Amino acid sequence: MKVAVLGAAGGIGQALSLLLKTQLPAGSELSLYDVAPVVPGVAVDLSHIPTDVKVAGFGKDDLGAALVGSDIVLIPAGVPRKPGMDRSDLFNINAGIVANLVEAIADNCPDACIGIITNPVNTTVPIAAQVLKKKGVYNKNKLFGVTTLDVIRSETFVAELEGLNPANITVPVIGGHSGTTILPLLSQVENVTFTQEQIEQLTHRIQNAGTEVVEAKAGGGSATLSMGQAAARFCLSLVKGLQGEEVIECTYVEGDGSDAVFFAQPVRLGKNGVEEILSYGALSDYEEKCKKDMLDGLKGDIQTGLDFVK
Ligand SMILES: NC(=O)c1ccc[n+]([C@@H]2O[C@H](COP(=O)([O-])OP(=O)(O)OC[C@H]3O[C@@H](n4cnc5c(N)ncnc54)[C@H](O)[C@@H]3O)[C@@H](O)[C@H]2O)c1
Repeated sequence: MKVAVLGAAGGIGQALSLLLKTQLPAGSELSLYDVAPVVPGVAVDLSHIPTDVKVAGFGKDDLGAALVGSDIVLIPAGVPRKPGMDRSDLFNINAGIVANLVEAIADNCPDACIGIITNPVNTTVPIAAQVLKKKGVYNKNKLFGVTTLDVIRSETFVAELEGLNPANITVPVIGGHSGTTILPLLSQVENVTFTQEQIEQLTHRIQNAGTEVVEAKAGGGSATLSMGQAAARFCLSLVKGLQGEEVIECTYVEGDGSDAVFFAQPVRLGKNGVEEILSYGALSDYEEKCKKDMLDGLKGDIQTGLDFVK
């Protein structure tokens, strides 16, 4: 497996690259690209860890070389939020960064699975899809918005509240990756029952957990370590899928369009990326209402992305 991380010198990029260096299957290659001059140093640093994963660093002018032969490309490149900012405030800077990087992916490794981490994910994924379409290489089964952080936060917060081991908790999270578009399906958590008040408080905390980190970092950025873990989990699931195992993850993909063109939902990953979009099952009345109330906002975020490329 060759995995490229674009934005590898950043907060998420470094945490993610460390986890991949220690957890990718033996014989894999890790390709680190960033416009920041420190990236070759990050690669050298990681290369001293004794695992059978080859690491190479690529600077500003070597994007093509970083990408050639990649099976998976993860994109955490771009600016993060500061206190008081919404994810959509990042659009002006990050939209162009994602579009340029995805164009290079289309030119150098058009068959790769692409995981977009850069915010606003609700919009950057449709941008990536449009760029790939223009280049004639769009495969909706290989483009993912990484929403795994919402899943691991949900698992953590539910376990905390119930005094359980988070490793034994599964919470599907559907919708998008911003504010109320993040919809954890707490009614589907097995062997746990919540009061309506607990459901509303947990839902609110999960939807605002990113802001919790942004405020605690007080101007120093947004979630990087938990996001590194989330992206590593998603990447390792993709690797397992590409190697023929069946794995299920929630991720923001182009599905059947019954809710919105792009929608986070459980999917079965396999050799071709998305093998099957799975049903997210029955929603409680509360979840149904939350979904109905947020869909227009999510569709607006998607349209912003489609219009950007036009
Ligand atoms: N999907 C999620 O759940 C989630 C969670 C947290 C943060 N994020 C987003 O991830 C992004 C990165 O966050 P961070 O905290 O790592 O930021 P950061 O500032 O620490 O790192 C970003 C890196 O991107 C690099 N970069 C900028 N432009 C580039 C380009 N054109 N090509 C290659 N690299 C480039 C920068 O040099 C920097 O090293 C932000 O957009 C943030 O909002 C997403």
